[in-house]
Amino acid sequence: MPIEWRAATREFSLGNGRLTYAMRVLDDDSLGHLYLGPALTAGRSYAHLGTPDFAGFANRLGTPVALECPVGGSGDYRLPAVAVVNPSDGSAILHLRYVEHRVMDGKPALAGLPSTYVEAEDEAETVVVTLRDEPSGLVVDVATTIFRDHRALARSLRLRNEGAAPIDLVAAASWSLDLPDAAWQLTTLSGTWARERHVVDRPLVPGRQGVGSTRGASGHEHNPFLLLHRARTDEAHGEAIGLSLVYSGNFRAEVEVEPFGTARVRIGLDAEGFGWWLPPGAEFVTPEAVLVHSDDGLGGLSDTFHALYRERLARGTWRDRERPILVNSWEGAHFDIDEARLVAMATAAAELGIELFVLDDGWFGARDDDTSSLGDWTVDRRKLPHGLAHLARAVEALGMSFGLWIEPEMVSRRSRLYEAHPDWVIGVPGHPRTESRQQLVLDMGNPAVVDHLAAALIDLLGSAPITYVKWDMNRNITEMRGGSLPPDRQGEAFHRYMLGVYELYARLTARFPDILFESCAGGGGRFDPGMLAFAPQAWTSDDTDAFERLRIQWGTSLAYPLSSMAAHVTGVPNQQVGRSVPLATRAAVAFFGVFGYELDPVALTGDERTQVAAQIAFYKRHRTLFQRGRFVRLHGPFEGDGNETAWMVVSPAGDEAVVGVYLGLNHPEPGPRHLRLRSLDPAATYRVSLWPARDDELQRRNAGSRGGDELMGAGLSLAAGREEVEARGDHWAQLFVLERVTG
Ligand code: DGJ
Repeated sequence: MPIEWRAATREFSLGNGRLTYAMRVLDDDSLGHLYLGPALTAGRSYAHLGTPDFAGFANRLGTPVALECPVGGSGDYRLPAVAVVNPSDGSAILHLRYVEHRVMDGKPALAGLPSTYVEAEDEAETVVVTLRDEPSGLVVDVATTIFRDHRALARSLRLRNEGAAPIDLVAAASWSLDLPDAAWQLTTLSGTWARERHVVDRPLVPGRQGVGSTRGASGHEHNPFLLLHRARTDEAHGEAIGLSLVYSGNFRAEVEVEPFGTARVRIGLDAEGFGWWLPPGAEFVTPEAVLVHSDDGLGGLSDTFHALYRERLARGTWRDRERPILVNSWEGAHFDIDEARLVAMATAAAELGIELFVLDDGWFGARDDDTSSLGDWTVDRRKLPHGLAHLARAVEALGMSFGLWIEPEMVSRRSRLYEAHPDWVIGVPGHPRTESRQQLVLDMGNPAVVDHLAAALIDLLGSAPITYVKWDMNRNITEMRGGSLPPDRQGEAFHRYMLGVYELYARLTARFPDILFESCAGGGGRFDPGMLAFAPQAWTSDDTDAFERLRIQWGTSLAYPLSSMAAHVTGVPNQQVGRSVPLATRAAVAFFGVFGYELDPVALTGDERTQVAAQIAFYKRHRTLFQRGRFVRLHGPFEGDGNETAWMVVSPAGDEAVVGVYLGLNHPEPGPRHLRLRSLDPAATYRVSLWPARDDELQRRNAGSRGGDELMGAGLSLAAGREEVEARGDHWAQLFVLERVTG
């Protein structure tokens, strides 16, 4: 039984043999927290781990009692999980007392919101603990799921007004977790456009610290994810806790260290500017938070997130299917497209073995640059005189499938849609609208907008054999005002925007179950679990320089699987940083993700074509490994001077692996260094080959049969002869392929 209830001590214990999470109804009937950590023996009481005699904060103001659903104003001065304004008296006071609980098999879905799921009822168990504030009638259902096969839990709160007067909800976090000590490092995935999800690590200090977004998207700046780890935790050892929010809009992920040295961790909707009007009978459901506990390092934590998000967050036809190798028209052609050029690009791509041709921005309305036409999702006949279906069929005739770029949430001032519906745009009358990339944001909280987009896009996607859609979002929201909401309910606008986006995604994915959706927001500005529930892959970043990508892909991999990370080889000099990284290195980085190209294949030289064809053949041979294998981080770009990175991907059975080694600047006399691998079968013998094969010291020292034990204990040799080093140049990469031969 993963969930136990001990009536005598009013305790809940959620355990799956790897992990235990324990809670208890305290003497004042609030829901207390007892334990999160490695599995504890079932059938025992752990009430003593909490505050067994807690009868409220009276005479002990500020005591750090561990609570599951804390509220402010009556003795707990830390971050609250839930906050309200009670319109009958304007007060903010709540006392959420235990009423009842239910334990159920499986995991209920969250209406209107993306969430993790199970396919069979015995994959998870859920306990819903109902708490109630008697004076207001606010009822909070705290639903916590434990997964049988993952060291993970999921939580969401459902808040219901069962009272007689309306309640103004002003904060509703998805998970509030009280930890008994604060001896943790806090890691967030932070950056900005073109350098998303860099690893930022710092010790916890007294007070509040964290990250969030108020941009209307989860954002390039911070990911809805936080990680706590002990100072000595490394990739393979030690304790770590990750919290991730299945949401794509404004969020907050933070920690408060209070004077006694305990820590409260909170993740959920950002409370700044948030409000939700709950008239009698109404309810509000928070986005889901996912908690992962690892006692085998950051690698163990990532393994859990990867498996859960790949198998029980992503869904639909493409969840388990091999993803096609694509070429995207953007960096190769930008807006300079027409039928002849696109067919020429597709023809060259097909000859190289590419499987999917994606037509990016510029195909619709009269969009010759970024000043017009968003919202007008009809083909530009000047560029495609025979229409989209004709082009798609021409691509199909080359043996490839066809994909298309859209940006549904946006509108250009110069568009038919804006002329017809200027009132559908987010903005505050009387104030100038701040523009970004000369575009405005549609009010996705208005059901009429969602209905219009659903109809227009269903027409579009049904009009041609389209098998892939890239859904972009190229600006953040300013001057927020929900046009369909009254003045006193504007606090709902950002969340209603997200609900509208999810509604549109749900309608399109239901109508076109065979289309592979890829999410994008000016690169990785909405790379989050909410999007992954609809689009199993995302454009990781607009920065396609391989050296920059090492950091971006490394950071992203803390929480997200390789099957979610689109990674493309682009031309040089790179369009974001002007760097010219060798073609082999560009591919060696992009292989570790959903691989593709974003360049004009017609412009490749003969030698480049040979290399690209070989890269495509290599990825096809190892595609399952790259897309579904276990990703193991070996040496990080955030360590030391960041000059060296190494990582590998291993098949679940340990039969096959590919190791990638990358150097930034070349340095002379690197010395006889070794790279110790992980996650192999120590009893197996592997055939080691270098890709591409070489004729030098590196090849001689590594190629051949090696034991898994040796590869993990002693490692691959990175020693190279002087001539090899002199010939390397900067931004060098080497792949090592390991195939089990015996054992
Ligand atoms: C931003 C995306 O990240 C790019 O890949 C490209 O699709 C452009 N938008 C097109 O406008």
